[in-house]
Amino acid sequence: MTQHEVRPLVESEFREAYELFLRALLEPPSRDEVWDRSTGRYEPGRVLGAFVDGELAGTAMATTNVVAVPGGRKLPAGAVTRVGVRADQTRRGVLTALMRAQLRDVWHRGEPLAMLQASEAVIYERFGYGVATRARTVELQRARAEFRTDVPGGGRVRLVEPSKAAAVLPTIYQRCELSRPGRIGRDDAWWSFWLAVLGKGYLVAVHADGDGVDDGFALYEPKKTDDQGTTLRVYDMTATNPAATAQLWRFLLGIDLVDRVVAQPRPLDEPLEWWLTDRRQCRVTEVADDLWLRLVDVPAALRARAFGAADPVVIEVHDAFLPINNGCYRVGPDEVRPCSDRPQLSLDVAALAPLYLGDQTASTLVAAGRIAVHDPAAVPAADRLFSTPESPWCGTGF
Ligand SMILES: CC(C)(COP(=O)(O)OP(=O)(O)OC[C@H]1O[C@@H](n2cnc3c(N)ncnc32)[C@H](O)[C@@H]1OP(=O)(O)O)[C@@H](O)C(=O)NCCC(=O)NCCS
Repeated sequence: MTQHEVRPLVESEFREAYELFLRALLEPPSRDEVWDRSTGRYEPGRVLGAFVDGELAGTAMATTNVVAVPGGRKLPAGAVTRVGVRADQTRRGVLTALMRAQLRDVWHRGEPLAMLQASEAVIYERFGYGVATRARTVELQRARAEFRTDVPGGGRVRLVEPSKAAAVLPTIYQRCELSRPGRIGRDDAWWSFWLAVLGKGYLVAVHADGDGVDDGFALYEPKKTDDQGTTLRVYDMTATNPAATAQLWRFLLGIDLVDRVVAQPRPLDEPLEWWLTDRRQCRVTEVADDLWLRLVDVPAALRARAFGAADPVVIEVHDAFLPINNGCYRVGPDEVRPCSDRPQLSLDVAALAPLYLGDQTASTLVAAGRIAVHDPAAVPAADRLFSTPESPWCGTGF
């Protein structure tokens, strides 16, 4: 046994782990009703605790999920969340022990990927995670944000009672789930928790297409402040097609008495500025990392995604945390296989994450010093192999 005993917690210990996590994030203790609706997210065997002298010192859990990868496949992924270490036990290797145990567990479960959303950008790279999707925050002054007449439209937006949201939104989300790389699953436990956390102030708009089929929704909340007037905060908006997204935006920007609309997290390539008569009315106030990905089984993860047309490239991967991934891989549109050829590019496993869903090009990572180049011809080939037609986007907090 190491200095920190890490083991899966039993059900009677889950709440203690949750409270430890909240305290680590400097949040108040949970309300009973939020906890009650949260328990479904705790999967027996996937909630880890690290003990020091018999006391719970840190925790990390994962839920069983999927992530859409280029080419449209849904790949099993452990969704890592609720990570926290007691303030009096930090910087003693507790998180490292938890991560080690968790990544091994993900591997043994046959999940090629692990994913998380990070409170700070400096924590997880050492464990092989990298930023795989980013998202932007957009802000519009409603009075000046006018839609062009040639924006695709149709269908109808209606308000749905928040109490009925749980019956309507999951079905729409399922239709959107695979719509772009980086999207992840939302199960009943997720919806139950998320709608409980939002509390009573939120509103729900649903878009239905010309045939009456629901194909998009926006979940938002009006907030009044003395200096900014009334702001509509859009927390969650998704649709199966751009016309439905445009109509939801049109609706939000048409609500009386609203001064500002702030939406986050939105895809980087959402064409909002293209829909406006004055594109400068769409102000991007932040671009932030969204989904962090860890290729746990490198060959399985690479094989699962589609690649663009280009000559195969031999990539050498270094993985200090899961050495089974160390080695060279021939990556091409027809096959991905381990090989003993001389590497053309070398990188740490964490640098695969920004490439994997198409958020960054190999050229950018070369310029950043994150890919070592042994054969310059491999760089444009890798650019073409990993490129995707649209920006990856997760857009789901977990
Ligand atoms: C982030 C957190 C989980 C780290 O736990 P920890 O037990 O202190 O981490 P470890 O001791 O295993 O640290 C491993 C390494 O990461 C570094 N590290 C960990 N957290 C860091 C942070 N927040 N900032 C900078 N470096 C950090 C450590 O310095 C250490 O580096 P070293 O190996 O070079 O010595 C803990 O600080 C915490 O609970 N923070 C508040 C809650 C939170 O942010 N949770 C994460 C939610 S996504």
